[in-house]
Amino acid sequence: MTIAQTMLQTAAETATHERPPAPVSKGTFRAQRPEIVGPDEPMLPFPIPLSGAVQKGFGRGGKDLGCPTANLPDESLPAMSEVTQTGVYYGFAQVLPISNDERALSGEESQVHPMVMSLGWNPFYKNEKLTAEIHVMYPFKRDFYGHEMRVVVLGYIRPELDYVSKEALIEDIETDKRVALNCLARPAYQKYRDDPLFEASS
Ligand SMILES: Cc1cc2nc3c(=O)[nH]c(=O)nc-3n(C[C@H](O)[C@H](O)[C@H](O)COP(=O)(O)O)c2cc1C
Repeated sequence: MTIAQTMLQTAAETATHERPPAPVSKGTFRAQRPEIVGPDEPMLPFPIPLSGAVQKGFGRGGKDLGCPTANLPDESLPAMSEVTQTGVYYGFAQVLPISNDERALSGEESQVHPMVMSLGWNPFYKNEKLTAEIHVMYPFKRDFYGHEMRVVVLGYIRPELDYVSKEALIEDIETDKRVALNCLARPAYQKYRDDPLFEASS
C-alpha cells in the first residue's frame, strides 16, 4: 500500500457508505481561491490513467450549469477512487473517434484536450452513488456518448462541496476550469499531452 493510500480516506471507502456530508462552499472561500494549485510536477498517486466508453449522466451539467460532462463507466472508477478522495481534479482527456460512424468527430475534437473531473456524490444534486464526471475543455459540436474516452488525471484542485445556489456551483466550476488550465500550462504537466495512453489523431 502506498503512503497516499494509507493517508487518505479514499473515495472508494466512502462509497461503501451513504452519501457523506459535504461542507458548503461559502462566498469567502470562492472569493479567495488561488488561481494555481499543487506542485510543479505531478506527484504520486498521479498520473492516474483512466479509460472507458462515455455514459449518459442526468444531463444537468450541460442544461443547468453550462458545463457538459461525460460520465466514465463504474468499472473504470476504482483506478481513481481507490487511491484518491472525492473532489475536483485536472488532467488531459481524448475522445476517440468511432471508425465508419456517422457520428464522427472532427480531427480537432479527437485531439488531446485539458479536462476537469468531479469525482464524488454531487451533494448539490443529492446523487445516490459515486460518479466520475469529466468536462473536456473544448467546444464539441455534439455529444459523444458511447465513444471511448481516455484520461490522464494529473492533480487535485479542491474537495467536493455542497451549494446554496446553482450560481455558486457555476462560479466554483468556472474557477476550477481556470485553475486547471494554469496548472496544466506548467512544462512537467504539458508533456502528458503525448502520453502513450493517447492515440495520435489524424
Ligand atoms: C469541475 C466540476 C466541479 C464540480 N464540483 C461539484 C461540487 O463541488 N459539488 C457538487 O455537488 N457537484 C459538483 N460538480 C458536479 C455537477 O453537479 C455535475 O456535473 C452535475 O451534477 C451534472 O451531472 P449530470 O450531467 O449527470 O446531470 C462539479 C462538476 C464539475 C465539472
